[in-house]
Amino acid sequence: MGPRRLVAVIAGTRPEAVKVAPVIRKLADSATLAPLVVSTSQHREMTRQIFDDFGISVDIDLDVMRPRQNLWDLTARVSSKMGAVFAETPVAAVLVQGDTTSAFVGALAAFYHRIPVGHVEAGLRSHDRYSPFPEEINRMLIGRLANWHFAPTSHAARQLRRENVADADIFTTGNTVVDALHWMVERVSDDALPAAARAKDCRLVLVTCHRRENLGEPMMDVAHAVRELAAKYEDLHFLFPVHPNPAVRDAVYPLLDDHPRITLCEPLGYNEFLAALKKAWLVLSDSGGVQEESTALGRPVLVLRKETERPEGVKAGTLKLVGTDRKRIVREVTRLCSSPAAYEKMTKGSKVFGDGQAAERIVSVLEEKIQPSAPRSMARRKSVKASSTSSWSKEKTGASPIAPAKGGVRV
Ligand code: UD1
Ligand code: UDP
Repeated sequence: MGPRRLVAVIAGTRPEAVKVAPVIRKLADSATLAPLVVSTSQHREMTRQIFDDFGISVDIDLDVMRPRQNLWDLTARVSSKMGAVFAETPVAAVLVQGDTTSAFVGALAAFYHRIPVGHVEAGLRSHDRYSPFPEEINRMLIGRLANWHFAPTSHAARQLRRENVADADIFTTGNTVVDALHWMVERVSDDALPAAARAKDCRLVLVTCHRRENLGEPMMDVAHAVRELAAKYEDLHFLFPVHPNPAVRDAVYPLLDDHPRITLCEPLGYNEFLAALKKAWLVLSDSGGVQEESTALGRPVLVLRKETERPEGVKAGTLKLVGTDRKRIVREVTRLCSSPAAYEKMTKGSKVFGDGQAAERIVSVLEEKIQPSAPRSMARRKSVKASSTSSWSKEKTGASPIAPAKGGVRV
């Protein structure tokens, strides 16, 4: 057999790192394929934090993050650096995940190099071009660029068919976040629980909020609601890992920093976050991934948005859309505090987002679609070997050389 062919797996932000981690691990076990882990570092610290949690090393780091980055400059930096990687690196396919700038521009750069693109978590739609912003348009554009669409649910697959994506190119796999969750939950112990979440005789409310469309007034409204609820219910303890975006910190810290039952903290490691989520009585969040994880674990979520591209979780009863209006949030939490029946209904949980085998299905499809390379002697003449990528990454990005045999996974 010839050398294993490289599949570039792109991640730039925290949720992408969580959701590609299981795919990277499966690719590392493949007989015919190997992962090349490309981090744009759109989130410099948080992507590293998550990959560390999964024991994954980055092969090529584009180092694009700037404080308070805007979308157009970020897009230009990712495009220029990603284009250069694909110009010099012989990858057989590119995988992007979700709907971030890194994912959209990664798919575009691959297309410019005529490299086939696989889209993990394809087919999510809110049907509102400005919410989530810019994610709704990003994922639609990736949908035009991708060759293989890995839909997490049958609902997502149906949306792709409605947009005339060929049936043969759609694969319903489940969401890889459930694989990530299973992998990590097996390793989480109570020691991972942040100290602030250990308070006895308290109901833990886990809060996250970061969406661009919620920055400013809406996020401050959420903070006011949290404060009001902490005053109203003495047995509620709020744990709020604050996203490093300075615009989020500006909205949250001045309003919530000084309350004994509101703990603001740095972003948690994935194991710590899952430990807190398992313990949480209630979740208030505008995050996409947290909606899926909470549905899998049966933890009720009041979604701080006016729409969701994850209606499966609403149907399952775990998610309720409440937006960011202070009065509405206080009213909904009050309802759950005073009606055990209403609360119970939200704790059932569901496997609607996956069974933990999504990465395996994705890698099987890739193994079938990507032709094996020619035996080693021919490959040497016809194509650049993976080792030349190592020198590229070292020379141009300062990243550690790639290790094709293990494919970026530390074991
Ligand atoms: C990005 C994604 C969004 C995703 C979210 C997950 C885009 C346009 N947005 O939004 O889809 O839901 O990530 O969290 O792709 N920062 C740091 N360190 C980090 C991470 C961020 O300092 O590790 C700060 C920087 O100042 C950066 C700012 O946060 O400029 C915003 O980061 P950015 O990726 O542009 O936007 P997010 O709102 O995080
Ligand atoms: N997460 C984490 N630590 C935290 C907050 C979130 O590990 O302090 C994880 C969470 O479990 C989920 C992912 O980050 O898997 C969601 O990321 P985020 O909310 O930033 O992005 P979104 O899913 O909204 O795109």
